[in-house]
Amino acid sequence: MANEKYETHEHDVLIIGAGGAGLRASIEALNQGASVGVVCKSLLGKAHTVMAEGGVAAAMANVDAADGWKPHFRDTMRGGKFMNNWRMAQLHAQEAPDRVLELEKWGALFDRTPDGKILQRAFGGHTYKRLAHVGDRTGLEMIRTLQDRGVQQGVDVYMECTVTKLLKDGDRVVGAFAYWRETGRFVVFKAKAVVICTGGIGKAWRVTSNSWEYTGDGQSLAFEAGAELKDMEFVQFHPTGMVWPPGVQGILVTEAVRGEGGILRNKQGERFMEKYDPKRMELSTRDVVARSIYTEVREGRGSEHGGAYLDISHKPADYVKKKLPSMYHQFKELADVDITTGPMEVGPTCHYVMGGINVDAETGAATVKGLYAAGEAAAGLHGGNRLGGNSLSDLLVFGRRAGMAAAQYANGVGGSSVGNDQIEAAAREMLEPFERTSGESPYDVHRDLQESMQNLVGIFRNQEDMTKGLDNIEQFKERAKKVRVDGSRMFNPGWHLAHDLKNMLIVSEAVALSARERKESRGAHARVDFEKLDDAMWGKQHNIITRNADGGLNLAQRPLMEMPEELKQVLAEDQ
Ligand code: FUM
Repeated sequence: MANEKYETHEHDVLIIGAGGAGLRASIEALNQGASVGVVCKSLLGKAHTVMAEGGVAAAMANVDAADGWKPHFRDTMRGGKFMNNWRMAQLHAQEAPDRVLELEKWGALFDRTPDGKILQRAFGGHTYKRLAHVGDRTGLEMIRTLQDRGVQQGVDVYMECTVTKLLKDGDRVVGAFAYWRETGRFVVFKAKAVVICTGGIGKAWRVTSNSWEYTGDGQSLAFEAGAELKDMEFVQFHPTGMVWPPGVQGILVTEAVRGEGGILRNKQGERFMEKYDPKRMELSTRDVVARSIYTEVREGRGSEHGGAYLDISHKPADYVKKKLPSMYHQFKELADVDITTGPMEVGPTCHYVMGGINVDAETGAATVKGLYAAGEAAAGLHGGNRLGGNSLSDLLVFGRRAGMAAAQYANGVGGSSVGNDQIEAAAREMLEPFERTSGESPYDVHRDLQESMQNLVGIFRNQEDMTKGLDNIEQFKERAKKVRVDGSRMFNPGWHLAHDLKNMLIVSEAVALSARERKESRGAHARVDFEKLDDAMWGKQHNIITRNADGGLNLAQRPLMEMPEELKQVLAEDQ
């Protein structure tokens, strides 16, 4: 597929995204003898993985000896309201401890128990103390370790490079078209297999813990290439983001604050979780805690700036600073609050999407040949609601599996070619915004999309709002087709956003359509017009599949895969 006009690179396996999943996949593909390129939109090491601060969930039983893969499997399935791909939940629970130990061998420095084992802490929805951690900087330590390992093993990294299209030869994905963010120059990647590890979609909402990179790129690339998306309605609002001052609204306040004993109160000083989940209180699952805070605010019992108070100041100051060093500095520097002496103000923030690219549990293969996905971009493990810390173990377990499978596939697949017309079409699409003489700024459309998703497809949903949200999306799509950008292709954030906007519109539409289609409340998907779980137990449920067909997004319901008897037994056992 030589196209002499554009810089071209060639690898057996191309990985899009360099967060934890992308790095873990690249390490495994390298282990298999593949040549590996990793393309990332941002600088290497800057990934949403670092926002999983409080720990990586793995049933190592270092603190609670009764833990094991079965309780972890059970918690994950229960937390996900049985929408999970049971095979993924099983593999995840079984393999996570080895993946954490492997990280340790590669140099990750975890906190320790007095007898020298990896320390584990409590987190919402986990029956036992299960989260291996490094203070409140676990994701950061994992990225540092994986990055060192990958670079040392010889991965080629293409930083600040955005992929805009997957390239196909017939029904196979065989590469990607991209541009360098600094120069705007186009670049073609040729590959035998492509692994999508681009993370989430949070930037489609106004209040989010996600940074600018998370615009649903991987989900949209896969969708446009013909792959299925699954259960996009399940979007997680982390209960605790910062609410004040306005410039920092949405920044994550780790669940580790509650894991270490933090207490939530409303403006009347009531410990309101007593009403919503008296058994698990602050360590209820995220969907429940987020809805509880939201309800307190809506009913007039919110904190000064429209959230709840989260207090850890009853613990000794040294303990707080040791266990939660980032939170201590974050609040001191950004909000002028000393969390060792008083409460933080917190509120829900869009954090994670449980839905995503539909993948095979064992291999991470998407429904299009040559395409794989892992981490947040892939669907299945978390079902209707993710437990904290399961994101980090997810990306280790399934990043490894996808990297291995992609390399094995690449090893056995023949040559490929891509017509120049495909490449030229991708280039033309990118240049269109410069050619328009009139039209509005992409920033205006983005702001309106965020506002609409925040207000109409948020924590509580109903038919009328979602229909309005979908009507808005239709209008935003028309506006996005006409956005104009000024200046040149040299580092031009407006131009970058014009492209990202297209991805955010695809994923927003997939979320809103799927959410309107699911006429029940389950996990993170809460409908005020259908308040009950349609069917409380596993077995009669369906996934919602989104496909690119007939010039638009097409929905289908598909029954969940039948669970084997032995796993049904595990689920039925009481802890
Ligand atoms: O609250 C947190 O530390 C986030 C963890 C996660 O999203 O898994």
